[in-house]
Amino acid sequence: MDFLTEELDNFVTSNTEKEPAILAELNHETWEKVLIPRMLSGHFQGRVLSMLSHMINPKNILEIGTYTSYSAICMAEGLQENGKIITIDINEELESMVNKYIEKSDLKDTIINKVGNAMEIIPTLNESFDLVFIDADKSNYSNYYDLVIDKLNTGGYIIADNVLWSGKVTQPRESLDPDTIALIDFSEKITNDDRVQNVLFPIRDGLMVVRKK
Ligand SMILES: C[S@@+](CC[C@H](N)C(=O)[O-])C[C@H]1O[C@@H](n2cnc3c(N)ncnc32)[C@H](O)[C@@H]1O
Repeated sequence: MDFLTEELDNFVTSNTEKEPAILAELNHETWEKVLIPRMLSGHFQGRVLSMLSHMINPKNILEIGTYTSYSAICMAEGLQENGKIITIDINEELESMVNKYIEKSDLKDTIINKVGNAMEIIPTLNESFDLVFIDADKSNYSNYYDLVIDKLNTGGYIIADNVLWSGKVTQPRESLDPDTIALIDFSEKITNDDRVQNVLFPIRDGLMVVRKK
């Protein structure tokens, strides 16, 4: 589902910072070679993530759902000097492409790529984070939130992608699939959590932005 008309979408993109060359190449190769390329954040959302990361200026970032590393590279742009991003993906077939682009982007010392189930890896992490990006299996969004909230520094942010799920979240509950129900429950859970402030930005497929009080 497109939330903006094609004309408005083009206007928005053409009045946003250009996609850096390395990301344009990664975007192109993902669409050429990888399954379900629409999962990639892409030019506009990538620039949004880069901008938010610059505004937060995090020391440590955690990303749940690397895919081909597009969003990891975007968020790494806003890291503090000596900061790092840990990014996790369960799909080992993506690993060589991820490593190739991490090398190409000169971010080898900044991006730590972990392959495995995020539900198992997150409890093993000892770091605390200033920014967490949740962008993996929708059924686990609430579980990821529970796993990361105590690892998030006060004043830190969680950003969760796809919370509008192509608009399906507004349809009658009895007609919904489990992923859509999980996303609705996730948004409700956060909105009712006094530990955080949250705003749902209707950007692309919906970005839930959460600040730990
Ligand atoms: C929407 S894609 C991520 C897109 C990427 N963040 C971007 O913006 O370009 C979701 C990714 O989550 C991964 N994933 C799904 N379940 C997972 C799990 N339990 N643990 C870690 N990664 C998982 C998938 O393999 C997939 O690559």
